[in-house]
Amino acid sequence: MKKIVYTQYGSPDAIELIEIEKPVPSDNQVLVKVYAASVNALDWHRLRGAMGIRLMNGELFKPKETSLGLDVAGRVEAVGNNVTKFQPGDKVFGIAQGSFAEYACADEHELVLKPANVSFEAAAATPVAALTALQALKDRIQPGQKVLINGASGGVGTFAVQIAKSFGTIVTAVCSPRNMDTARSIGADHLIDYTREDLTANGQQYDLIFAANGYNSIFDYRRVLGSTGIYVAAGGELAQILQALLVGPMLSKFGRKQLSFMGITQIEEKDLSVISELLASGKVVPVIDRWYPLGATSEALQSFGEEHTKGKIIITVRPDHDNS
Ligand SMILES: NC(=O)c1ccc[n+]([C@@H]2O[C@H](COP(=O)([O-])OP(=O)(O)OC[C@H]3O[C@@H](n4cnc5c(N)ncnc54)[C@H](OP(=O)(O)O)[C@@H]3O)[C@@H](O)[C@H]2O)c1
Repeated sequence: MKKIVYTQYGSPDAIELIEIEKPVPSDNQVLVKVYAASVNALDWHRLRGAMGIRLMNGELFKPKETSLGLDVAGRVEAVGNNVTKFQPGDKVFGIAQGSFAEYACADEHELVLKPANVSFEAAAATPVAALTALQALKDRIQPGQKVLINGASGGVGTFAVQIAKSFGTIVTAVCSPRNMDTARSIGADHLIDYTREDLTANGQQYDLIFAANGYNSIFDYRRVLGSTGIYVAAGGELAQILQALLVGPMLSKFGRKQLSFMGITQIEEKDLSVISELLASGKVVPVIDRWYPLGATSEALQSFGEEHTKGKIIITVRPDHDNS
């Protein structure tokens, strides 16, 4: 089978498409015949050798885990001895390390059945970005509240806008002019053009601010939070992440506003099921910017690295797959 690997940190030019044996699932794993995968920031950070990832994974000088890709959608090819949830032929989506490949193994609990009315590509666009958005929002918002989403047009942001709307909130999306129509089409009630407007200058206050991307000082965000408002960051510029991690807990000690970094996205089966229901109901429709074949994964990563993806970039592993 064909698989994308990288053996040194650096640019997308360093990745290779190699031919190896099909993997064998362990007792608790499922072997997925991959139909589609999608690119996430983590793939980019791993390829580039971001220092946080090198330290966290103990891979200081070169990657030990050489595969790339997490999001997956496809058909179950084989199951391990202890797997009870799936059988060969099932259409699934979720997380499989090394999903930029023709086959990948996934933990049984990191997959769910794909809704019949959702394409493999749309399902593959979803897992990490939608889980991130769901986990940032789900225990922090109530119907009728005002939510501001910075970085609303990216992978995480486009899911965040739709998930926040599915909770019955009033959403303000921060994006550039080229993405205004997309933000409106996925349900944003109000728009702020970050290239021309200061999000602190319109007199609005928010119950929740979710920083999926971009940068504003944590003090700016605090200023436009309501008296019991919550600010949570998932990413964006390093300064935004560091402020949320280090300054947020300190600021939260003064008054009733809570400011924090959301932590690492958890691969929770129950959250994947919620996302699957949102997809099946049409409340969440993945925004897909571009498609690349497996052999052009390098170009897909290069494009992601330019930081202006609208929604998600898909890797189509088997373009001729049947959807039945
Ligand atoms: N905590 C976690 O576990 C976790 C999980 C997943 C992702 N993340 C982090 O979340 C962040 C977002 O990920 P993603 O996949 O959504 O990234 P992405 O898809 O690459 O985001 C691209 C989008 O960001 C927008 N953007 C760029 N600069 C902006 C700015 N200054 N203000 C507002 N929007 C801006 C771009 O819009 P324009 O083209 O209009 O500029 C584009 O639509 C990353 O930093 C990632 O590392 C964290």
